[in-house]
Amino acid sequence: MSKRQMHLVGYVLAGPTWHHYGIWRHPESDGLDMLDPARYEEIARVLEHGKFDGLFFVDFLMLFDSYAGGYRTNLKEGGQQCMMDPMQLLATMARVTSNIGLAATMSTSLYHPFHIARSFASLDHITKGRAGWNVVTSAMDREAKNFGMDALLEKNLRYDMADEVVEACTKLWHSWEPDAVVGDRENNIFADADKVHYVNYEGKYVRTSGPLTTPRSPQGSPVIMQAGSSPRGREFAGRWAEVIFTLQNSKEHMQAFYRDIKDRVVASGRRPNECAIVPAVDVVLGDTESIAKERAEAINSYASPTLGLAEISNALGVDMSNEPLDKPLAELELTQGCRGILDVMLQGVEKDGLTLGQAGKAWATSQMTPQLVGTPTMIADYLQDYFEAECCDGFMICPSMSPGTYVQFVKTVVPELQRRGIFRKEYKYATFRENLQN
Ligand SMILES: Cc1cc2nc3c(=O)[nH]c(=O)nc-3n(C[C@H](O)[C@H](O)[C@H](O)COP(=O)(O)O)c2cc1C
Repeated sequence: MSKRQMHLVGYVLAGPTWHHYGIWRHPESDGLDMLDPARYEEIARVLEHGKFDGLFFVDFLMLFDSYAGGYRTNLKEGGQQCMMDPMQLLATMARVTSNIGLAATMSTSLYHPFHIARSFASLDHITKGRAGWNVVTSAMDREAKNFGMDALLEKNLRYDMADEVVEACTKLWHSWEPDAVVGDRENNIFADADKVHYVNYEGKYVRTSGPLTTPRSPQGSPVIMQAGSSPRGREFAGRWAEVIFTLQNSKEHMQAFYRDIKDRVVASGRRPNECAIVPAVDVVLGDTESIAKERAEAINSYASPTLGLAEISNALGVDMSNEPLDKPLAELELTQGCRGILDVMLQGVEKDGLTLGQAGKAWATSQMTPQLVGTPTMIADYLQDYFEAECCDGFMICPSMSPGTYVQFVKTVVPELQRRGIFRKEYKYATFRENLQN
């Protein structure tokens, strides 16, 4: 019997800083090419060369401004910012690749299901069956204000709304039967109207009549990706998600998360392999361990604790500029914002008893994901160990440096995983979903 295969997904963001704050200042970083489509095309080519299942764009619909009353710190120091619309970048990436899955984040709280369904159906046609949607409910009221609302719904209600949005989108995606377009020139039959249907979806939060204007796409619907970690977020993921991103702090936390989500997937009537769980890891490589450590030290020297704290403020929706840096993170009280993210940080607190200042530095360094530093063999050992210990089905690779981390990873770690028989040597299928499930 062939060995279970690992899945790899790349983390991409249309801005100067991805996962490692301050890295745009490094001379080898392409962070300042953030507005150039060629940057993204190159990343897509590299990851496809490495046979990655897919890549996805993080997206937030605001300039982060939860720290010290505005966006000054974040802008000045080049923190996380999503400067371009991922859907358009994905369309350009689609034109230079043919196998890798291409996914974007889109918010169910801020976009209407008709817009979402049409965008992803179009992307699925453009990519010939490689589209993915990272479903987020958004967490910051500034995002709501940008869309003309005063505030977001309360968190659990946002997930209730997200359920409706995905239901409505699914109906819209299926509003065209697969063979509705006939294209019969001789008999003047472009489409069979009996195979295109109104959906008349009426929920508590959203309504849409349909049909979609876009014919059925190759996958029928994009691969659904998600990163909920709160109980309600996990419930949503168990029902819908085909890929789950997670930040977990230890092997035990990963195993517990893995079991919990797989149980929820099965409880929703799906097979466990219909949902791939991929924790985020940050990788710093070197030909020897000491070279890798030196490299990590150089890279991490760019991470500013202030920017890290500003970013934690953004992630949690709470201004921490007036909090003392030596305050224990465990003493923060939170109800709104990304509570799930705080819980993950608190896993680190149990381990290390972090203060706010230390958390700021750790966040700026790798957003609290494990930073794996070592030779390609050491990194492959770690990935294989976690994969085989049922912590996950694969990994989301968050590059400390773009494009260098990806280039090195693909050149050195991927062949090692392939030699061990736990990662594909070639793509076997044409669609993102098929590659993920096999
Ligand atoms: C790896 C990762 C990537 C994420 N990307 C985004 C994103 O692009 N946009 C966004 O609004 N939220 C993003 N989130 C936040 C999640 O959607 C979610 O709100 C968060 O993980 C907290 O889970 P909870 O909502 O269940 O508390 C991301 C989370 C993780 C762990």
